[in-house]
Amino acid sequence: MSQILVTGGTGFIGSHTIVALQEANYDVVIIDNLINSDIDVLDRITTSSGESPLFIKWDVRDKDFLSWVFAQYNFDAVIHFAGLKAVGTSCQQPFVYRENNIVGTMHLLEVMDIYDVRKLVFSSSATVYDISREQAPFAEDMHTGHTTNPYGTTKYVIEQLLQDMAIWKNMQIISLRYFNPIGAHPSGQLGENPSDEPTNLFPILMQIVEGKREKLVVYGDDYATKDGTCMRDYIHVMDLAEAHLVALDVMMTTTTNTYDVYNVGTGNGTSVLEMITLVRDVLNVNLPYCVWSRRDGDVAVSIADVAKIKTWLGRESKFSITDAIEHGWKFRQIFDK
Ligand code: WQD
Repeated sequence: MSQILVTGGTGFIGSHTIVALQEANYDVVIIDNLINSDIDVLDRITTSSGESPLFIKWDVRDKDFLSWVFAQYNFDAVIHFAGLKAVGTSCQQPFVYRENNIVGTMHLLEVMDIYDVRKLVFSSSATVYDISREQAPFAEDMHTGHTTNPYGTTKYVIEQLLQDMAIWKNMQIISLRYFNPIGAHPSGQLGENPSDEPTNLFPILMQIVEGKREKLVVYGDDYATKDGTCMRDYIHVMDLAEAHLVALDVMMTTTTNTYDVYNVGTGNGTSVLEMITLVRDVLNVNLPYCVWSRRDGDVAVSIADVAKIKTWLGRESKFSITDAIEHGWKFRQIFDK
């Protein structure tokens, strides 16, 4: 059984990926500092998969600690989720974002090299695309860089570092460029529950449905889109989790050093107003909102070109936005009981 280190494994995408890995018989070890997740996630992972993962609470920025972990186990590969991810906050705290995302990854890579672990799946982002030169839908071979926010810059810089690692340190690396993950495990046992106040659209909409927030503040309705609000490519978190599994499976059967990149999205764009209508219709609820000014760092349209990932997975995404809304809401109902 292959043993996989998963950094940031108690976060939203990490925890769903852990369940997918366990179901595919991978042996997982999680490292997470729980800065934006809760220890209870481990119980929910166990309920969802029937297996409790090995967990160590610490920080990937601590190189001595990482060396200790790599000495204890015999990892075949690493999936690196650990990092901060709020676009808006990154504009206010660029140094914090650099330290967490870039420094953390550099330390991880150094220790992987020392312990001869050469396979890595990295959580990258759609925010790396250079919107001054490219227009959505974004394909993997388009220009990256000139990012619109410090969060995106950290992902861009890390991708550059990873390319060097593949060439000069003989590593096999796949970066998955996530578009907008939403939803929850279909069982409703596992979902998105950040410790920080959520900044993403979907968890905020769930809070409004729950009555924990009065209304949605729509950040700008003067973008050059069909209804003036930003468009995103929302992908069900279990489809995203499965992409990590495929990446690992591919890497486990090959040994050549490579750096490869895949968009993980659906290829469909949904505006903020369309999302409000969808949640309203699917859950049959009232969803008050008001329009406010644009949010720092936002881009008008972010949609994936999915040709490459479709060939890889051999199919389209399994779940729809409607599924994501139903599963996300099911999770909130179970979680808040
Ligand atoms: C979606 C849309 C907002 C909140 C995310 C991740 C980031 C990266 C890219 C993977 C935008 C609008 C939001 C609100 C609003 N993913 N909105 N009112 O900014 O696309 O970033 O995807 O790397 O990690 O955070 O997602 O959900 O924050 O915003 O109007 O209260 O909803 O302006 O147009 P975003 P989001």
